Amino acid sequence: MSHESEDRILDVRDIYTYFRTEAGVVKALDGVSFDIRYNESVGVVGESGCGKTVTSRSILQILPKNGEVVDGQILYKGVDLLALTPSEMRTVRGKEIALLFQDPLSALNPVMSIREQMIDVIMLHKFLTEEEAEALAVEMMHAVGIPEADKRIFDYPHQYSGGMRQRILIARALALQPSLLIADEPTTALDVTIQAQVLDIIKRMREEHKLSMMLITHNLGVVAENTDRIHVFYGGRVVESGPTREIFKDPHHPYTIALLESIPSFKKGKGRLATIPGSVPQLIDPPKGCRFHPRCAYVTEMCKKRPPAVKIKTDHYVACHHVDRVIKRDINADYDPNLGYAIDNL
Ligand SMILES: Nc1ncnc2c1ncn2[C@@H]1O[C@H](COP(=O)(O)OP(=O)(O)OP(=O)(O)O)[C@@H](O)[C@H]1O
Ligand code: SF4
Ligand SMILES: [Mg+2]
Repeated sequence: MSHESEDRILDVRDIYTYFRTEAGVVKALDGVSFDIRYNESVGVVGESGCGKTVTSRSILQILPKNGEVVDGQILYKGVDLLALTPSEMRTVRGKEIALLFQDPLSALNPVMSIREQMIDVIMLHKFLTEEEAEALAVEMMHAVGIPEADKRIFDYPHQYSGGMRQRILIARALALQPSLLIADEPTTALDVTIQAQVLDIIKRMREEHKLSMMLITHNLGVVAENTDRIHVFYGGRVVESGPTREIFKDPHHPYTIALLESIPSFKKGKGRLATIPGSVPQLIDPPKGCRFHPRCAYVTEMCKKRPPAVKIKTDHYVACHHVDRVIKRDINADYDPNLGYAIDNL
């Protein structure tokens, strides 16, 4: 959602991303706007299919062939990425904006050693000699906690565990000194204990490298502990944006409230999204007006018109016609004490 300040590294303005399919046009992103500030960590949350991955792929322009950003602007350090040539965009990818995926194995080539995969990327972007690139690769692997990196660099992806592979990808991404890291469910495929270690590394690297981050996750515990602000997505739009602490303590959009309330496992400290009654909208023929209206307890006739984003406090925006009517229960009263503690300390 729109903000007035000029300290943004990324300013996504009203983007529409559509996919052509045999069944019709899938309007995956329908006027998405949000921003990320320099050195800020921003969480993107929302149910499966709400457009989180499509947003990251739209930013980096790595959409599947049937997909296209048909309108809007994606300002990165003030430059519209949608106006760049493919070769300019190749420089932005990796060197300026790095992407971490959910599945570290699919991001690595199984028949190439880690050394080859790391130094190729580093040499391409940083114009270093092979020896310099290898030294940098080893240094970065060491920094993310890979033991005996100077020897292990000659191994192949299958010789590493899932957590170690994700560390390698973090090392490779950060060797190029990007300014923005987009992490799309970076720890979902990993065991819980390994998840925490990888998140710690991301956090430490973010501080050391002064990285801004967009962290896409289903895990509300992860956003609570790792982000400064949250953008809540629903049905290809941003429905609420605000400081992380405020979103947890004082959510205003009926969807955000439902999201926080309907999570039994969240109380147990797992923090994963559970189901909300009703189903995620079909984006070929989405509900008119507010896309949440078929599932909303506060719906009125007015909701058949699209609600604009309204500023309710500094940095806190809500796209709902009836913000004033929505009853805000004390969601935090239900929280698991451990998680509550984490949230209280944001
Ligand atoms: N190649 C494609 N062709 C058609 N529709 C697509 C394509 N890729 C994505 N979509 C649609 O775009 C919408 C948003 O998908 P997206 O992958 O961004 O969801 P997500 O929020 O990342 O979900 P998840 O949490 O499951 O990763 C979905 O309705 C999806 O079906
Ligand atoms: S605009 Fe209407 S339908 Fe949408 S969330 Fe607000 S009250 Fe519910
Ligand atoms: Mg996704």
